[in-house]
This record gives sequence, structure tokens and C-alpha cells, in this order.
Amino acid sequence: MFEIEKIREDFPILEREINGYPLVYLDNAATTQKPKQVIEAIVDYYENHNANVHRGIHTLSEEATSMVENARLKIARFIGSNDEKEIIFVRNASEAINLVMYSWGEKNIGKGDEVVVSLMEHHSNLVTWQMLCQKKGAVLRVVDVDEGGEIRMRGGEKREFQGVRVMSLEQTLGGKTKLVAITAVSNVLGTVNPLEKIVKMVRAKTKAKILIDGSQSVPVMKTEVGKMGVDWLVFSGHKMLGPTGIGVLWGRREILEEMPPFLYGGDMIGQVELGKSEWNELPWKFEAGTPNMAGMVGLGAAVDYLEDLGMNEVWKHEQDLVAYALEKIKGKAEVYGTGDYKKRAGVVTFNLPGIHAHDTAQVLDGFGIAIRSGQHCGAPVVESLGEMAVARASVYVYNTRAEIDYLIDKLVEVKKVFRKR
Ligand SMILES: Cc1ncc(COP(=O)(O)O)c(C=O)c1O
Repeated sequence: MFEIEKIREDFPILEREINGYPLVYLDNAATTQKPKQVIEAIVDYYENHNANVHRGIHTLSEEATSMVENARLKIARFIGSNDEKEIIFVRNASEAINLVMYSWGEKNIGKGDEVVVSLMEHHSNLVTWQMLCQKKGAVLRVVDVDEGGEIRMRGGEKREFQGVRVMSLEQTLGGKTKLVAITAVSNVLGTVNPLEKIVKMVRAKTKAKILIDGSQSVPVMKTEVGKMGVDWLVFSGHKMLGPTGIGVLWGRREILEEMPPFLYGGDMIGQVELGKSEWNELPWKFEAGTPNMAGMVGLGAAVDYLEDLGMNEVWKHEQDLVAYALEKIKGKAEVYGTGDYKKRAGVVTFNLPGIHAHDTAQVLDGFGIAIRSGQHCGAPVVESLGEMAVARASVYVYNTRAEIDYLIDKLVEVKKVFRKR
């Protein structure tokens, strides 16, 4: 049962006042707040169990190791994997994408090969592949986004944008495609991409590997990696109630087994001699050095919290708020992306005519409202809207319809400050 007032009591930061007003936190696509269950799990780890993992024989080290490995198991189950060895702990989604790029990409992408991304990628899933393609003489192909903020699946005109030809997914795919790296949900437009259709088309037309950026989808939707038919999924703990500095790379075991290590050092080795070394087994092959143990434990607690709420309920709540917000903001601001809430996660991106997004965000902050403004690490897609900056309100499990009403009311105040109607 989704009891919003009870949920809110779990988040100490929601008691804060900002500029004399109760905090209305609508910047969840950037990072989410933490419930006391997560904070307490981290405190408990440091107060009672802290020791280095996988190497000590003493009690504390064994406790810490078992807490960390237990968190791994929970996370595997949470995303629908029945093999916890497929869960690699990293710092965040960006590091997970870089891991795949340096490990798999360096080995498998060569001159003339093609990597497909979309125009709506976060910089993490764009720049990383741009760099690899430049280094290897490979070609970066970009899937266009239509006027409704959706991936263009087939047909249509190819067009030039920022000196690059962008086109439908179908037009990007071919015999040279080695990788398709695409987001499940856009952090700028909120669009929920039709992954099933995308995967089907990629599999039918290519032998490419598929990487899904789940940074915005894993926190809000039930994820079933076993059914997705993809090769890698990346996400960050801090966007799903967990602490910062911990993220996940999930990969299919056969592929992870073939990939060389990304970082070298302690814990990732099996055997070491002066002249040669062998690697540890999965997942530790990719986890060099002392990991973020408290982060892993904290993310495990975040997963417990979300599972208690139920991911289907979380998604329902997200949909309720985004439908409500889209309806309420109609006629009051220019809203970007699809107007069909069913195709949209809880992200509402808008501008008030004639007012810069930063100005909007600053005036709203004066009323205790936290939204994000700017390019949202998605400069190309923002510029494709014909804007240099947009404002973004994004919701999560503790947000309410009353907060949306408050935001909409205060947009009127923003217009007054800048003498706009
Ligand atoms: C869609 C998407 N991908 C990747 C990232 C990068 O996440 P992190 O900064 O945690 O690495 C973000 C963060 O905003 C995102 O929204």
C-alpha cells in the first residue's frame, strides 16, 4: 500500500525549510533523497561492522563481506537476474558505461565499425562512445528523436543536426553495427523508450551488442534483465534512494567472462607472480581495490525499501503524478516531450515564455521549490528543442499532487517577477 504521508516521514530532509518555506523537492532525476532506513544502514555498517572485505579472516571482515555480498544478491533479484555474479559494483552509471567501453569496446570496436546511440542520450552514454569511435576510426550513428520526443523507429527523412546526419533506428542499423547504446528513459524528455521493439529490430538486423542506460528506468519501473534480451544494463544507486558513489553494471555472464579487466589492483586478481598475473572470477575481476562497502550496503537497503513499496506501485505513483502535472501545466508553460503520460516517466520539462530556465529555477527556490534548469547533461537533445536551457521538475516516491499544485501556483509568481503573462 502506497501511504504517501508515511513514506514522507521516512525522509528526514523533507522536514527542512528552504527560504522560509517547506522544501518541495522536484529534482529527483538528478538525485533522490534518502530514507532513514538507508541512512541507518550506512551508520550501522560503520558503527558495527566496518572492515575490509574479501581478505580478512577476522569476524568484522567476515561480517562486512557477507553484508556486501548480500547486497549484491538483493540487487540481482531486484533487476530480475538469478546470477548475482552478473552484478558489478561501480561508482555510478557513467563508470559502468566507461567500463564497457574500455573493456569490451577497446577489444571489439575497430576501424569502420559502427556504434549506434540516440539523440536523447545523457552525455555519459554519448561522449563515451564518441571518444571510442574517434580513437578507433569507427562511426557513431545517431538515432533521431521526433517532435513528440520519441525515438524515430523507422522511415522518414535523414536530417543534419550539429553537423551529424540523424535518422531512424532502422536506418542506422546494418552489417557494420557492433553496438547499440540507448537509454530506457530520457532524463531530459522523460520519454519511456519502446525497448522491446528496439531490441527486436536490432536483433533482426544486426549482430550488435545492446547496452541499456537504466539510470532513469530502474528507479521507477520493474526491471527484468532476464527478459529484456540485452547485453548490459547500467544504473546509479543515488537515483533510487541509495547513497552516492555506488552504481551497477549488469552484464550477461558469457560476455562479462570474455571481457578483460578494466582496472588493475587488489581483489581483482586470482594469482600474481612477478612476471604474470591471472584474474579473479566474476564479479570481482571488475572490482579492483577496496570497494565502497558502505555504499553497497546502503544500496541494498534502498532496494529493500523500494521492494517494500512494490515497483508496480512506484510506477503507478510516478504515472499519477506525471499525468496530473501535464494536465495542470497545460497553457501555463511550454512543455517539451510527449503529452501522453503513459509514455513518460515522472519528468516534466518546460520553459516559461521569455524567461530563462535558470531564472525560473531561482525564483522557485525562493519559494522552497527545487527543480533543475539548464541542459541536464543532454546538450544535443535540449538544443534540438531549439533551446539553450530548459527547466525540469521530476518526481519520486515522496512527492504529492499538492506539491505539483504548489509548483504550478508559483509559476505564476515567476511570471510576475519578470512581468510576463
Ligand atoms: C539517463 C542518464 N544516464 C546517465 C546518467 C549518469 O548518472 P551518474 O551521474 O550517476 O553517472 C544520468 C544522470 O543524470 C542519467 O539521467
